[in-house]
Amino acid sequence: MRKNIVAGNWKMNKTLQEGLTLAIELNDALATEKLNCKVVIGTPFIHLASVTKAIDTKKIAVSAQNCSDKESGAFTGEISAAMVKSTGAEYVILGHSERREYYGETSEVLNRKVALALANGLTPIYCCGEALEVRNSNGQNDFVKNQLDETIFNLSVDDFKKLVIAYEPIWAIGTGVTASTEQAQEMLSFIRSIIANKFGNDVAENTSILYGGSCNAKNASELFAQPDIDGGLIGGASLKVADFKAIIDAF
Ligand code: 13P
Repeated sequence: MRKNIVAGNWKMNKTLQEGLTLAIELNDALATEKLNCKVVIGTPFIHLASVTKAIDTKKIAVSAQNCSDKESGAFTGEISAAMVKSTGAEYVILGHSERREYYGETSEVLNRKVALALANGLTPIYCCGEALEVRNSNGQNDFVKNQLDETIFNLSVDDFKKLVIAYEPIWAIGTGVTASTEQAQEMLSFIRSIIANKFGNDVAENTSILYGGSCNAKNASELFAQPDIDGGLIGGASLKVADFKAIIDAF
C-alpha cells in the first residue's frame, strides 16, 4: 500500500531559531493527533541536525532540499548525501524546478544525486513538472515522461521502489494558481501509467505520487480525494503551523 504524504518545502526561509520554533510548534500541534498521512518537513541544511533532535521524528520526518552529486572531497560549499543522513534526516527533495532552473541541474547531475541519496539510505522526493509554455502547447505529458525517462526510470526496480515522486507544474509554484483537481489527477494518473509500463502494475500502485504548486488548506481535501494523488509537496503554506496542519488534516 502506498503512503499518503504531506511534505513541506521551506525553501530558503527561516533562520535557525525561527525554523526550530516552527518545527517545535508543529510537533506540539500534532503531538496528540492520530495522523492519516506521513508528515515530512524539508528544512534548509543548517536546520537539519537541530530540528531532528527537537521533534519526534517518528511523527514528523525531516528532509533536506538538495544534496551534492559528489560523494565527498574538495567541493567547497557542498553537502553530501552522507552528511544529510548523519543529521537524522530521512528524505531529500531532488530535482525541484527551482534547482533545475536557477542552478542548472541537468538529468545527468540528478542521476548522480538520486544514486547517492539512495546509497546513503535517504528517500528521494523526486520532482518533475512543466513550464507554462509547455502546458499551453499541450506538451506536458511528453515533457514529464522525458524528465522521468532521463532520470529515475534508469533505476533498478528495487531502487525505484524507494522513491517518492512529486509533480509540480512550474506555473503553479508560488503563484496562487493551483492546477485544477482534474489537471493534477490527470497528470498523476499518467505518471502512474508510465511507471506501470516501465516497472509493472504492482510497483506503480505502490509508488507515492504527490502534487505540489499552491496547494493550501482550501484546496487540499479535494486534491487528496483524487485516486492518484497521494499527498502534497507544500511550499508557502508549510511556513505557518495552522496552514500546514490544516493540509495534514485534509487526509
Ligand atoms: P508553493 O506551495 O509555495 O506553490 O510551492 C510549491 C513548491 O515548490 C514545493 O516544493
